[in-house]
Amino acid sequence: FEVHWDAEAAEKGGYEHFMIKEIYEQPRAIRETMSSRLAKDDSHIILDELKWTKQEMAAIKKIVVVACGTAYNAGLVGKYYLESLSRIPVEVDVASEFRYRSPLVDENTLAIVVSQSGETLDTLAALKEAKRLGAKTLAITNVVGSSISREADQVIYTWAGPEIAVASTKAYTTQLVLMSMLAIYIAGLRDTISAERSRELISGLRNLPAQLHEILEDVESIKTFAQKYGFNEDVFFIGRSLDYAVALEGALKLKEISYIHAEAYAAGELKHGTLALIIEGVPVIALATQHDVYEKTLSNIKEVKARDAVVIGIAQQGDEQINKYVDHTIFIPKADKFLAPILAVLPLQLLAYYAAVTRGCDVDKPRNLAKSVTVE
Ligand code: AGP
Repeated sequence: FEVHWDAEAAEKGGYEHFMIKEIYEQPRAIRETMSSRLAKDDSHIILDELKWTKQEMAAIKKIVVVACGTAYNAGLVGKYYLESLSRIPVEVDVASEFRYRSPLVDENTLAIVVSQSGETLDTLAALKEAKRLGAKTLAITNVVGSSISREADQVIYTWAGPEIAVASTKAYTTQLVLMSMLAIYIAGLRDTISAERSRELISGLRNLPAQLHEILEDVESIKTFAQKYGFNEDVFFIGRSLDYAVALEGALKLKEISYIHAEAYAAGELKHGTLALIIEGVPVIALATQHDVYEKTLSNIKEVKARDAVVIGIAQQGDEQINKYVDHTIFIPKADKFLAPILAVLPLQLLAYYAAVTRGCDVDKPRNLAKSVTVE
């Protein structure tokens, strides 16, 4: 009698792949990100790691967020949070561009680098460049003691736990959660957020783990869509505002692990070229979770429907209109528009995962890619 011990299978804890395990870990991961950082009465964010004074924050004239890949996509959401809440102008840049473009950065700039691994070479180099130019630097990373965590003036950890799959999932959602907390925190120091809005967002954050759970409890329809459309060669993602940023992440995920050509467009940009590619049967994933631009998004959905695209809508529960205009809808639990991306990305991660499984791809180790890119 022999016992075969497969260390990797044991690490996957009963899941077929690390990616799906990590997708399911998200409720717990974001709970960790938030733990002991939300005031008990929801009145403010506690980020004791950060040593900024009110005066220092008042002197910040610009924020640059620099990262690669999924972390860059998280930065795009972060821009929205930081600009709206703290009223500081924010630029988001790809690290390999930022480091070579003589960026306009000085001592009144806060440079935020985002990196799951903390080892991405371009991001590390961009951080050094920002430091050299005199910026205050902050790293958002998942790995304690990583090169980026050591190089930055200050660091806040996502506490997502180890992420093994090449495709980033829980790192992204925890980065979003942390970015939103950072934005509330900075806005608090600058007095640009009302007590009411702060409380609203913090109680919204508290609801997220249970809401993510709710999505994960019923993934059958997502699996069916992935099986049905997994053999299409092109997929489009559209959305406005924060939905556009999430669309970019959905498209990256799909390309990365299923090798399906995917493009994300700001829904209002379709008319400026992309609509030419929308023909009968092309799947379009349309995100419509942002109420302030909802009607505009619906009119973009009508445009693609008129070209006979197959539209899968991603909408908030309680949306009674969307079904009239799309072929299928995936509903996410109701959430503040700021926090909706943290929920809306989940069906997109699952779609990419099941599409890759349907196509027989090596989900955890997609071709040509490495988990941590430590070369240029
Ligand atoms: C995400 O799915 C990718 N594997 C990739 O884009 C990744 O996010 C990027 O390489 C940045 O890595 P980092 O967060 O470790 O710096």
